[in-house]
Amino acid sequence: MFILSIDTSCDETSVAVTSGRRILANEIYSQILIHKKWGGVVPHLAKRAHEERIDLVIEEALKKSIVKNKNLFGRKGENFIPKAFERIDYIGVTYGPGLAPALEVGIRKAKELAKKFNKKIIPVNHMEGHIYSCFAQNSRGNPARPFNFPYLALLVSGGHTELVRFDNHLVYTILGETLDDAVGEALDKVAKLMGLGYPGGPVLERLARDGDQSYHKFPRPMKGSKDLNFSYAGLKTSFFYHFKKLKQKERLNRINDLAASFQEAAFDSLCIKLERAMRQTGIKRILLAGGVAANLHLRKKARKLVKAMDGEVRFPAYKNLCGDNAAMIGIVAYYKAKEDVIVEDVARFDRVPRLRLNSTK
Ligand code: KG4
Ligand code: ZN
Repeated sequence: MFILSIDTSCDETSVAVTSGRRILANEIYSQILIHKKWGGVVPHLAKRAHEERIDLVIEEALKKSIVKNKNLFGRKGENFIPKAFERIDYIGVTYGPGLAPALEVGIRKAKELAKKFNKKIIPVNHMEGHIYSCFAQNSRGNPARPFNFPYLALLVSGGHTELVRFDNHLVYTILGETLDDAVGEALDKVAKLMGLGYPGGPVLERLARDGDQSYHKFPRPMKGSKDLNFSYAGLKTSFFYHFKKLKQKERLNRINDLAASFQEAAFDSLCIKLERAMRQTGIKRILLAGGVAANLHLRKKARKLVKAMDGEVRFPAYKNLCGDNAAMIGIVAYYKAKEDVIVEDVARFDRVPRLRLNSTK
């Protein structure tokens, strides 16, 4: 079964071709350069950029899959797109959560392709995509990673911080989530205040490598609360106050230490709740996914914690699967196709910007 999938939930225009969990192509056109000068994603600019690029990204994804699978998809050349679509079984598309104007572009394109090539559409929640990104394989089927339910998934991105029970294919329960900012959002805001540009997570990671995390003890939000929720607004404010008090020279001299101390506080909060969730549920198999899961320091902390509790943690096998991408959407679509979860009424199918993770079985 071959699936062409589209994700335009935020600032990446991505199209993938997948076969089961195998990725034949996963094209990701980042809009970072467009949004950088504004210090964050500007919705109408995101929409325009998605519109300008989506056709090209579809073409690129199909071309790449031809290289991986010549026999099935035929050859490049004239009319290759309709020919390639003959081999595509479904179109998977993200319908939420995300920026409304951005989601709209992907959905409109999915509808157009479905009509033109007579395909069924499979609706995918962006967050279930992040969960399944931990099981993505290359075109040869590596890594094998068989499913061994149940899992606890910690999803850490620019828009979400969630702890989810993943009991079976397409079956999820949200155990905890952020009450205000997401962890990636907090990293981005702090980096912006420090004048480090957008997105902040990777820059802070680089700076923190040469910093002293014990330079300042920022609070560990929600540490004492018994639930599994997160909060980053207070931590961010605490950083703002500390930073404002520093003289310009000290800000510069201490830039690495500031990054390391803040990052440590942010990641400690994740680990505290992850540990609590493991104790409460007894689940020892952990999935860590989303843009912030690209952070090597966070991976190290999570590995250490989970190992000490006799568990195991998985991350997406390839770094470009941490951030937003359509391959993860295609993989979810495959499991939905097997259950016949498709869009029944295409005309009324629409984006749901605040879509919550919900089971489809
Ligand atoms: O999953 P993602 O690409 O988009 C959303 O769905 O939000 O996540 C983007 C977030 C941004 O906040 C970005 O700063 C953060 O992931 N991020 C990182 C790293 N790479 C991206 N945070 C920490 N360390 C990184 N290496
Ligand atoms: Zn995402």
